[in-house]
Amino acid sequence: MTEHQNNIIHILYDGESPGRFPTALMGFAVRILDPKKPIPADIMLLMVDVDLRDPDMISRLQAFRKVSQRGAEQIFAIGKNDLQDELQATALGARKTIIKPLTEKAVAQYILECRETLGIHGETAVKSVQGGADAIQNSLDRLQDGLPVDIDKIAEAGSNIATSIADLGIAEWLSTVRVYHQSTFQHILLVTGIACAFGQHTGMSKADIAKLTQAGLLHDIGKVWISDAILDKPGKLSDEEFTIIKRHPVDGFNKLMEQGNVSPDILHGVKHHHEYLDGSGYPDGLMAQDIPDLTRILTICDIMGALLEERSYKPPFSAEKSISILKGMGKEGKIELALVLALESMMKHQVPKAHVPSTPPQSQSA
Ligand SMILES: [Fe+2]
Ligand SMILES: [Fe+2]
Repeated sequence: MTEHQNNIIHILYDGESPGRFPTALMGFAVRILDPKKPIPADIMLLMVDVDLRDPDMISRLQAFRKVSQRGAEQIFAIGKNDLQDELQATALGARKTIIKPLTEKAVAQYILECRETLGIHGETAVKSVQGGADAIQNSLDRLQDGLPVDIDKIAEAGSNIATSIADLGIAEWLSTVRVYHQSTFQHILLVTGIACAFGQHTGMSKADIAKLTQAGLLHDIGKVWISDAILDKPGKLSDEEFTIIKRHPVDGFNKLMEQGNVSPDILHGVKHHHEYLDGSGYPDGLMAQDIPDLTRILTICDIMGALLEERSYKPPFSAEKSISILKGMGKEGKIELALVLALESMMKHQVPKAHVPSTPPQSQSA
């Protein structure tokens, strides 16, 4: 039987006795990596106890961060009160830091903390999340290289996501995405999953669900031209920075429009997912009559995703709190209340209470 990477903890350790770790622990296989070799790209769970001042080691970890598509869960052991270690671990993508040394007990403790989130993910959910992340990464890379987005790849990822959500439910999707992906990736995957589940729950046609799912994958693609310093800025954005952020719907739309093979419904969603029914949104201040259903739904799912996420300025909100904020916006006339109520019904039907929010343990520095 081949093991899925999701059930393996890889340990990067440069100390004297790698044998101090067991080969299996609490249902997980434990593998010790050769600290002199590149770190394989497909690792999902990496625990690191190395000298974070060693330039060779740093470059191997940097290379891994690049190829792992930000998808791997990385836990770093750092020196007690060692600020430089802490900063280095954060820069290298640590989800959580623990105090050195990394011991069997520390690994077991980590599994215990995350048992539910680590244990519940079926291979299908992990695979379709990874497929979605691959399609997003591929699209971003191609845009950055001045190439058109591979729409077939987006369509294929969307169809796998739809199958996975139909089989396993949105709860499985949300918790899988939360555990494995950070930042923009997490946001796009959350929004895509919510939109797809919404389409399925409300009985939309297969073709419309496909469009909605693909629109989810593509909606924020214009952010590829915005620097991480602005996208991940902790704290309030300046007016100038906000103006830059607000360009992403039009930038994404223009590029996708140019390539000539993207459905007009998807293009509308990409360009107008920040419009409100009362004309107070952007980029065009469209009014209700100019905003079709697919874009209205995408907008609501986009906000829902953002509310469920952890952001630098807020913790992840529960599904209940997120829906109540959306209802408030519906009553103000910004978004369609009937669609919010449909989303509420979907979340109630499909999301067991224990799974929302299913927040992985965060370090103060992650
Ligand atoms: Fe957006
Ligand atoms: Fe978004």
